[in-house]
Amino acid sequence: MDVGIAGSAREAAALAADLVAAALVGSTSPVLGVATGSSPVGIYDELAQRVARGELSLAGASAFMLDEYVGLPVGHPQAYRAVIDEIFTRKVDIDPSRVHGPDGGASDVEGACAAYESAIRDAGGVDVQILGIGTDGHIAFNEPSSSLASRTRIKTLTRQTRLDNARFFGGDLDAVPTHCLTQGVGTILEAREIVVVATGAAKSEAVRQMVEGAVSARWPATALQLHPRVTVLLDPEAAARLELADYYREVWANKPDWQRP
Ligand code: GLP
Repeated sequence: MDVGIAGSAREAAALAADLVAAALVGSTSPVLGVATGSSPVGIYDELAQRVARGELSLAGASAFMLDEYVGLPVGHPQAYRAVIDEIFTRKVDIDPSRVHGPDGGASDVEGACAAYESAIRDAGGVDVQILGIGTDGHIAFNEPSSSLASRTRIKTLTRQTRLDNARFFGGDLDAVPTHCLTQGVGTILEAREIVVVATGAAKSEAVRQMVEGAVSARWPATALQLHPRVTVLLDPEAAARLELADYYREVWANKPDWQRP
């Protein structure tokens, strides 16, 4: 796991965008894994600026979302499909018909989850996955106790996650769905490269566990330690509880050029 401690959230987003862009060039039909939440917004803005400047194109790319709420009416502004359209799809030159997400309105939930797994496989798998992390250590919506081998399925959200996300529902906890469909930890680990971004003090304990904790379903993000190509980009607040922060800074500062995007 490569840990980059940036000077600010903005710098962390720019570094993440460098890695994502580097993973996408060289393929005419790259596959990007996209996350919702506020953490990746800066990355999408960076990618959009690069597209606008003609330095990057997602015209041939496809994208797969991590998760979707269950039970929100079609077109609800907080449905992750609507959120990803707003923060990513409409800002870049990707074909909207090639941005896929799990079907949170499906009556056949198991069938919808299996179909989503097949769609990712049929696209050739995810080249680079953008990830955030929940304050309870979830990745996508894999809450504590999620199997580290899990595949796309329905999950119950923790109260903590619903409290965290209530800000997107006018602060009304009751308006936050209780269930979701989410890629499993095992699904996410099949991406060829993973870029995690976390900012702010509220993430510092989850970040400490993810980077330095024992691998455990108690903190699902710790499963990322089992993946050979993960870069974690942090601001100083999110990095504040890392025991080996000085070492990560030294490694990052002394990276040979060939290891940089
Ligand atoms: C959300 C999403 C995750 C996201 C996380 C953190 O609920 N399901 O994919 O990484 O929680 O969100 P934020 O970046 O807004 O803190």
